[in-house]
Amino acid sequence: MSLRIIVVLAVLTGVTGWPSVTIRPEAGAADMSAHPSSEPDTGERAEIFGQLEVFAEEEAEEDVMASGELNPSHYPAQRAAKVVQHYLNTRYGSPYRLFGLQSVHSGNAEDVAGSERKYQLEISVQEIISNTTEKCSAEVLFLRGEQQRSAQVKTSCEELLKFNTKAQEEALYQQYKMNQSLLSAQHLPDSYGHIEPDMKPLWHLGIVASSFVMLNESSENTLYNMAQVANATQLATENDQLKFDYHVLLHEMVTQEIVHWKLLFTWSPPEGVKVLQMEQLPHCHDCEKPPKTN
Ligand SMILES: *[C@@H]1O[C@H](CO)[C@@H](O)[C@H](O)[C@H]1NC(C)=O
Ligand SMILES: *[C@@H]1O[C@H](CO)[C@@H](O)[C@H](O)[C@H]1NC(C)=O
Ligand SMILES: *[C@@H]1O[C@H](CO)[C@@H](O)[C@H](O)[C@H]1NC(C)=O
Ligand SMILES: *[C@@H]1O[C@H](CO)[C@@H](O)[C@H](O)[C@H]1NC(C)=O
Repeated sequence: MSLRIIVVLAVLTGVTGWPSVTIRPEAGAADMSAHPSSEPDTGERAEIFGQLEVFAEEEAEEDVMASGELNPSHYPAQRAAKVVQHYLNTRYGSPYRLFGLQSVHSGNAEDVAGSERKYQLEISVQEIISNTTEKCSAEVLFLRGEQQRSAQVKTSCEELLKFNTKAQEEALYQQYKMNQSLLSAQHLPDSYGHIEPDMKPLWHLGIVASSFVMLNESSENTLYNMAQVANATQLATENDQLKFDYHVLLHEMVTQEIVHWKLLFTWSPPEGVKVLQMEQLPHCHDCEKPPKTN
């Protein structure tokens, strides 16, 4: 994929104290050489954010919910497919297993019982760390109604689950568990798109935990991407679960909003990531400003 996305995160000492986030899609590998984000680890991030450029070039469409055969590169199919990525991360994600939507091959939408909407999709999903891709079928059911409920997803991407990451997870678990001091980190990635190698597992845990929010918050009108872990703190526990307090920034592509969430979750190799608490933090006005060219 020659197109790359550069997420520039600039912390400004503004009135609110929130970081101001500029997300700037750039096309062409040539641009990369001159930019500080052309570091090795942007490869991984470009995969996660790989879909963004599709939308950067698309005009915001009206929210007329298309039915029948969908254009696989347009919003309705892409939004529904993105939910599959979040679902897979919540079910199977770990510090060593992360899923990303690579492409949508075909999609179909229909109204079903009452006001529900069913999407049937053929997509390619990538497991980012082992860099393997599988073509999967998926069904996404959006439930409308008074009380918002998260979308229901059915999919089978069995090939992607075959990689055994248990040994790596166990080693990381022991390392975190045994350490005298509790871990903490800030700005993953930093404003240059860089993440220290030993901080990557914390970034990956943040992506998995954020997928719980993104799955829960997604509707036919949204498209969520992980933007940054503002900070991550390990908390002391008395049981076998490692416990973390995270402040994450999510990018909602349709409204171009950056939303802040506080997450409390646990992780252990046998139990995976379990979110105990998720709370959206007060709205950040600075973050809505159009991308700056500094
Ligand atoms: C992932 O695999 C594809 C093809 O299998 C290859 O072209 C690409 O360079 C790989 N990406 C990374 C980051 O290793
Ligand atoms: C233990 O924690 C300290 C402080 O966070 C860190 O510098 C060190 O690398 C950690 N050690 C291991 C083995 O993770
Ligand atoms: C998901 O969101 C709904 C409201 O949108 C909320 O009531 C529910 O508690 C959320 N689920 C979790 C696990 O936080
Ligand atoms: C975490 O980051 C947010 C956003 O930058 C900031 O408001 C908050 O004070 C930070 N919390 C800690 C514990 O550093």
